[in-house]
Amino acid sequence: MTISMHFWLMTAFLLTALVGVVDGLTLNRRSILLGSASAILPSIHPSLVQEANAIPLPFEKKDRRQLELCLVNVLRVQYWAMKVADILKNAPTDDQKKKAYLEVRLGAKAMVADKKIKIGGGSLLSVITLRGLQIKDCLDDLKYYAKNKKMDQYRDDLIESLASLVEFDGLETTQDPSPRSTLTLGMYNESKNIYVQRMLTERIIPLTDQTVNYFGKDQRIKCEGYVEQFYPRELPAKKIIQEQVKPTEGEEINKQVEQ
Ligand SMILES: *[C@@H]1O[C@H](CO)[C@@H](O)[C@H](O)[C@H]1NC(C)=O
Repeated sequence: MTISMHFWLMTAFLLTALVGVVDGLTLNRRSILLGSASAILPSIHPSLVQEANAIPLPFEKKDRRQLELCLVNVLRVQYWAMKVADILKNAPTDDQKKKAYLEVRLGAKAMVADKKIKIGGGSLLSVITLRGLQIKDCLDDLKYYAKNKKMDQYRDDLIESLASLVEFDGLETTQDPSPRSTLTLGMYNESKNIYVQRMLTERIIPLTDQTVNYFGKDQRIKCEGYVEQFYPRELPAKKIIQEQVKPTEGEEINKQVEQ
């Protein structure tokens, strides 16, 4: 071997080693980051972690993450309710209305029924999504964050309203597996459509709205932004922009508590 060959071999060896070290460092840094992320997550309600849909929430305070995750989910229910209520009212064909009607009934059931209960219409993506929001658990957690009993009321009313969307005509219960969706559709008529619409617009939408507003304007803006960014297809066509969000009861109370 000549000296220059030695030199080149050595250089190549050193370069490889160096690349290896740099790679290793990057890898390590990554795994440290991942490690710390997963170290934070288990402190959150485990069922909610699953539902984070693998998108990390961009909120800084660890202890607040769960609150915001819950508010995001309540907001997603609100947007869903706005969308289906709009279809029930304005869709040009009866078929479209019927489809939305079935979605409301199964979706409401997916939100309130026990996790073990089989929901019909399994092919409806929105129903699967709604079930994944684990809204009952979220509402329980929100109760924990709330400073007064107002939130208990919102929770109970919201769950009761969702349950009534399932049970109002006696064909379905929240306790049993769903009957075939053909039965629900076969018994569909205009007055049922109107009942469901009213339940959505007069109960579900205001209650989800009050729930999110309870935690204040800043939280609302943050969570709306999050849904817009990560679930743009869930946004209702005519998203109600709340121009003047007054300080909510929750904010007022929080202030009082802090003072
Ligand atoms: C719709 O069905 C319900 C019960 O299934 C019935 O009481 C109601 O009268 C019906 N409405 C119309 C407009 O047919």
